[in-house]
Amino acid sequence: ISAALSAGPLAGKHVLVTSGPTHEPIDPVRYIANRSSGAQGTAIAAALSALGASVTFVTGPADVRPPAGVNVVAVETAQEMLGAVQVALPADAAIFAAAVADWRVASANASKIKKDTSGSLPSLEFAENPDILAIVSQMVDGRPKLVVGFAAETDDVVAHATAKRDRKGCDWIVANDVSPETGIMGGSENAVVLISSGGAEEWPRMTKDQVARKLAARVAEALT
Ligand code: CTP
Ligand code: CA
Repeated sequence: ISAALSAGPLAGKHVLVTSGPTHEPIDPVRYIANRSSGAQGTAIAAALSALGASVTFVTGPADVRPPAGVNVVAVETAQEMLGAVQVALPADAAIFAAAVADWRVASANASKIKKDTSGSLPSLEFAENPDILAIVSQMVDGRPKLVVGFAAETDDVVAHATAKRDRKGCDWIVANDVSPETGIMGGSENAVVLISSGGAEEWPRMTKDQVARKLAARVAEALT
């Protein structure tokens, strides 16, 4: 289907979205993961698609179903997510909404670790996962024109997110306060601050769908 058939400000643009958690195996039956329903990333992919973008949606094992009309690439681990992102590029914009596990088990066990009847406990050795957002932000050739990261923070949200934007080299960071008292984690609403070279812009509390539509509209402005 040609891009010309889909109307909207993002017609003809390819946008990559990562979403959901990653699962890092310990053995065939156990894993470590981040808490993430995939709801915000899914809403963003749907909103971009509604504006006419061709969307590649790279998702870890999420609770919510991926939106219709996007190209879904399902992955399990951070390393698989990086591989899928590299295959999906080039893109006009890339939005990294996934909650990627920072560490994987250095050498996952091929067989199930059994409880030791003598009561001794297993110990795990970790290795750091690749930072997909930083890798894409710092690409020398073929970097997407717009690279957007997310940051779930507590305490001084703007300071943490601004430092994260500088460190990773992305254009925007969508930051939110996940302190327990905000009730954001696992809920249907979000209160975000958009950090760009222009500073911090606080958005009012709204549903995750509304955040997605507002962000998609901003992406369209930035690409046109
Ligand atoms: N991210 C990524 N790959 C990773 C870790 C994070 O692409 N291995 C992306 C996330 O999708 C998100 C952004 O980076 O867009 C920020 O993730 P976050 O966990 O807040 O950043 P970290 O650098 O891992 O910092 P922290 O120590 O606060 O977890
Ligand atoms: Ca992290």
